[in-house]
Amino acid sequence: MMSDTTAPDSAILEVQNVSRIYRSRRFLFARDDKGITAVDNVSLHVRLGEVFGLVGGSGSGKTTLGRLILRLEHPDGGDIRFEGMSVSSLRGRGLKAFRRRMQMIPQDPYQSLNPYFSIYDTVAEPLVIHGIGDDAARHELVRKALESCGLSPAQDYYPRYPHQLSGGQRQRAAIARVMVLDPDFVIADEPTSMLDASISFSIFRLLSKIRKKQRVTFLFITHDLAAARFFCDRIAVVRQGRIVETGPTVAVIENPQHEYTKSLIAAQPRFSFVKNPAEGEV
Ligand SMILES: Nc1ncnc2c1ncn2[C@@H]1O[C@H](COP(=O)(O)OP(=O)(O)OP(=O)(O)O)[C@@H](O)[C@H]1O
Ligand SMILES: [Mg+2]
Repeated sequence: MMSDTTAPDSAILEVQNVSRIYRSRRFLFARDDKGITAVDNVSLHVRLGEVFGLVGGSGSGKTTLGRLILRLEHPDGGDIRFEGMSVSSLRGRGLKAFRRRMQMIPQDPYQSLNPYFSIYDTVAEPLVIHGIGDDAARHELVRKALESCGLSPAQDYYPRYPHQLSGGQRQRAAIARVMVLDPDFVIADEPTSMLDASISFSIFRLLSKIRKKQRVTFLFITHDLAAARFFCDRIAVVRQGRIVETGPTVAVIENPQHEYTKSLIAAQPRFSFVKNPAEGEV
């Protein structure tokens, strides 16, 4: 039960024995300059169409693993395969296609959205970068993306700037910017950590809706087991760069095997109030 080593045929993503060590003399913690092992021999797979949760406390290596999967960083060991292709071998056109299909929803849209871009340009920019459509086609894609993310009527939002939106609307615009590319795989790194509970909940509902309609596979990063329970089919609990436990979300939460998972559950006061969609209507 420690890690899923054999990936089924339905896996869209396979992470095989991946490690990432940050070496820096500036790190006082780094004894004998051995560095910090942010990700330590992690293996997991994500099946097509599922929501896989990476759950763990601060500093457990969740974002680092996300960045490795997105190929924003390179592992020091192991291999990451997307649809069977080693991500580190991608070049040129293959890499560009990968960049379109694998997207990340940012933790803090205020940091990631360009303050000088109107909402229209914010959502249209990825289409321009990837050379998708002419002006008319882009216009239609932007409108659809905004409206499917709950910013409707879209025209009302086109001329606005990020600071002229509420926090929840800003995150919706950031999600529209991702979804406009019709990605196959989305990494959501603590997508609601900057929002209060009720707005977080509406963002989770939006992500659930997107998932059903657009058949997108999600890697959902969170420190919050309640959020994982609401949104994830399977989870891996990570601690200090290692997976301590993995399995179907409900099974892990109802019958945790590892002390660390138990301590996460004990630290969740809100936990019993949030239901997994599989357990009933939300
Ligand atoms: N660029 C870097 N250089 C050196 N060390 C880093 C770097 N990025 C992350 N680390 C270290 O790697 C470890 C894992 O960091 P990471 O950001 O992946 O954790 P996390 O699980 O995402 O935490 P959080 O929940 O706080 O976002 C931490 O000890 C962190 O200090
Ligand atoms: Mg992080």
